Amino acid sequence: MKATAIAPANIALIKYWGKKDEQLRLPINGSISVNLSNLQTITTVEFYPDYQADIITIDGKQDDKETERIIQHLNRIRTLANLYHKAKVVSQSNFPKAAGLASSASGFAALTVAASKAGGLGLSEKKLSILARQGSGSACRSIPDGFVEWLEGDSSETSYAYSLFPYSYWDIAIIVAVLGDEQKKVSSTKGMEAAKASPLLATRRKRVNYRIKMFKKIMKERDFDELGELIEAEAFELHAIALTSAEAIVYWKPETIEIIHLVRELRNEGLPIYFTIDAGPNVYIISEKENTKRAYNELKQIKGIRKIIINAPAAGARLIKEHLF
Ligand code: DP6
Repeated sequence: MKATAIAPANIALIKYWGKKDEQLRLPINGSISVNLSNLQTITTVEFYPDYQADIITIDGKQDDKETERIIQHLNRIRTLANLYHKAKVVSQSNFPKAAGLASSASGFAALTVAASKAGGLGLSEKKLSILARQGSGSACRSIPDGFVEWLEGDSSETSYAYSLFPYSYWDIAIIVAVLGDEQKKVSSTKGMEAAKASPLLATRRKRVNYRIKMFKKIMKERDFDELGELIEAEAFELHAIALTSAEAIVYWKPETIEIIHLVRELRNEGLPIYFTIDAGPNVYIISEKENTKRAYNELKQIKGIRKIIINAPAAGARLIKEHLF
């Protein structure tokens, strides 16, 4: 059978940075994210007895460095479905993979939903999230709707994501300033491995659960400034750990720092906008809807930004009817 799914990328507001089980991708702490409406991946999967090997095409190319990881993920699904057929997989993202915009999250979420349906499995959202997590940790958060919490858990069955609030809960904008170039980037998997040597990791582990509690309280009260302060502190902590890892990992480019200063200056001038940054140079600016246009116009002044993508909170991964082949 053939099935197609669409899944959003997500941006972590409380970060996942470290695994306690590499094989199962069990994180050292819970995390929280929001799905992004304009960064999506569509994937079609078909299992077919006549295929001699898995044929995987990503954004029109067949020699992707992710191919091995995708085949491993197909194997997980084949095992669950008692299926031995090879698969054809075609995947298309609406953003350049080279930009370093969490393509593994939307990619593995769409692959999980499409392949499990194509394999005849009728999995619950929780089971899909558990499965997606094993492909790429952050992918488990692209399965549920809107604002999502990934529970740390102490086993594969207890480490999954669920929707904290639907996408319609809070009409904020997430403006992505794209500076990235994935080719030069240290992958999250490698970055997390190196982070084990950071003396700051132990401190983070002590306070991250408190931050998750604070996050939920702030969301309930819809306190935008408190939310902004918290997500900036989280972003700085992730990068402080990266800078103090086994080899210092500097994810930022000059423009990253330029945008950090611009956001802070604008805030001093009365524009309430805040930022977060993942394991790359791109800056994600959050603003209330009425301030989006001004924030966008200010960002446009910075040379070196390759693209600006405005997102709203979005639904999670789901099946769609139109196939890619
Ligand atoms: C900085 O999910 O890409 O974006 O599980 O090794 O595939 P793997 O890592 P990945 O890591 C994402 C790290 C992050 C923060 C986050 O999304 O929480």
